[in-house]
This record gives sequence, structure tokens and C-alpha cells, in this order.
Amino acid sequence: MDRAASLLLDWYDGHARDLPWRVKGAAKPDPYRVWLSEVMLQQTTTGAVAPYFAKFTARWPDVEALAAAAEADVMAEWAGLGYYSRARNLVKCARKVAEMGGFPQAEGELRKLPGLGDYTAAAIAAIAFGQRAVVVDANVERVVARLFAIEEPLPAARKLIRAQADAITPQERAGDFAQAMMDLGATICTARDARCLLCPVQELCRGRASGDPLRLPRKAAKKARPHRRGTACWIERDGPNGAEVWLVTRPGKGMLGGMRALPDDNWSARSDGAGDVLIPGAWRAGGVVRHSFTHFDLELGVVIHAGDAPDVPGQGEWWPLDNLDAAGLPTLFAKAAQLVLSRS
Ligand code: ADE
Repeated sequence: MDRAASLLLDWYDGHARDLPWRVKGAAKPDPYRVWLSEVMLQQTTTGAVAPYFAKFTARWPDVEALAAAAEADVMAEWAGLGYYSRARNLVKCARKVAEMGGFPQAEGELRKLPGLGDYTAAAIAAIAFGQRAVVVDANVERVVARLFAIEEPLPAARKLIRAQADAITPQERAGDFAQAMMDLGATICTARDARCLLCPVQELCRGRASGDPLRLPRKAAKKARPHRRGTACWIERDGPNGAEVWLVTRPGKGMLGGMRALPDDNWSARSDGAGDVLIPGAWRAGGVVRHSFTHFDLELGVVIHAGDAPDVPGQGEWWPLDNLDAAGLPTLFAKAAQLVLSRS
């Protein structure tokens, strides 16, 4: 076994983080829990994922249970975790796996399932099934770029980083090895810090030998993030059992597709919203919320309908304000609702 791999595995045996989806000792990992955690962990930190993982596994303890769930319930439980296409694919994937009678074990077969990219397929093959697979996420990328002092900037360096990760991935315990690299990247070899004195591979690290590991990985200059503006509408009425707000469900494939939301003026990553709110009547300004999506920043003005509830156009539902949490609003709209409610 490569020396870096053997040092990392020894370190992992004593220092693995205690995370809810990991099993200790000889117990076999449950592929369902491994898959669910890896999908949740795409672009999301372990701290943010843990409470969602607990909620999901309590409500849907296995893949058959999740396959039988209504998509709207899964979307609502996912609210706040972001990247909502993951939740839509989660349901699709659960249904496919239930139909197949279980998760396939080969990386290539896993890769064909809805929502599974190269990273997730490799992670599940290695962690759940003990297959040798090369698992590269952002933490692993950073560790490898430092360990081998790769000077080429990202994203061009990805090919070389992958080849170097492949070269040190062991035949046995590839899942533990991958998680050791992730833990090292999350706790010792972090983006802001390189705590080399604690590192199990310090003696092999060319980045450390260079005297300045923190400059790695280098990154190509980023394009400026676009800044978009939009408007969302708060329309309230006195319902039979108290105050209610008008919510819509966003169309299937677009941004936040399938999620409940306040009606808005069709802002997108590519353009500002139209500015007008289409419903006649008097409106007053309710304030502004800001939210960062992956590719752009949004400034969302909230306008509040004044006077009697209008005839609302299109499809939607009157939602009781005292149970707004259960609507599963994505963070942007939850912020907007909080703004309005905190001022009223
Ligand atoms: N990030 C993504 N998957 C992970 C895992 N299995 N352990 C720790 N961090 C992770």
C-alpha cells in the first residue's frame, strides 16, 4: 500500500469524526444511509446536514419508505438545505432503487441513477460496498493539491488531481481512505488553515516542504457574480381559522422548482424580475432580503398587498400563518416571510 494511504488509514482509525451516517467497528454500512448522506453533503457542510439526516431517517427509515413518499413531503422536509434539484432526484432515485430491489454495487451502475454524479457514485461504491473507487470532492482536491504541490490552477488541475488521488487510493478500505482524506481536509488541511504539525502525512507533503501550503490549490480568476433584483408579493387575508398568506408552488424544473413560495415577478439567474406584480390594488413596500445562490446574488424586494384580499390569479393555496413552518419554504422565501412578520 502507498505510504500516504497507510498513514492516513492509521490516523483515521484514531481520529475519524463521529458523524451520524458512519458506522463504527465491524458493522456493515447501510447503503441507504450512505447514499442519503452523500446526496445531502453535496455542496453542504456536515453541520448543516446532520439535523436533516436525522429527520429524514426517522421519517423514512429505508429506501422503500422514501420511494413511497409523496414528492411534496420530501421537498418540504428538504426546505432550507438548498439545491432543490437534489430533493427531486432523491425521490426519483429512491423509486428506481426500490424497483431494482436494492442499490447496485458497481460504481458504473450507481452513476446511472438519478442525481448521482461521478463523486457520489464513487463515494457510495467505496463507503457502502467496499469497492475500490477514487473519490474526489473539494476537500480531497485541496489535500491532494497540497500533498503533491500541484501548481496548475483549478479547474484545469482537476485531471491531474484525480490521477494523483488514484495513484494513492488503496485496494482495500477505499471508503475509509476517502473519508480520511475528507476528514483531514475538514479539520487539519482546511481552506483557511494548514495545521501541518497535526497532519499524519506531513513528512510526505510537498506543499508543506514548499513552505507555503496555504497558497494551494491555486484557482483561476473567477468571473464576477451577477447581481439580480426581484419582487415577491405578500398577500394576506383573514381566513376561516385566522390569518393566511397566499403561496404558490414553483414550476417543476426551474430555480427552486417544486417548492412552495411567495408569488414573484420571475427573476432568474439571467435577468431581473419584471418589476410589476400583476395583481391590481394598492401595495406597500415591506423591505428587502438578500440571498446568495451558487451563481448569483439576489436582492428581493417584498411588497405587501394593502386592503382586502384580491382575487388571486392562477394556482396556489391560502396557507395559515400560524403553521407557516410546515409549508417548507426555501430559505429565500422564509427570510421574506420572517421580514414581513417581524414588522407586523
Ligand atoms: N463529505 C461528503 N461525504 C463525507 C463523508 N462521508 N464524511 C465526511 N465528510 C463528507
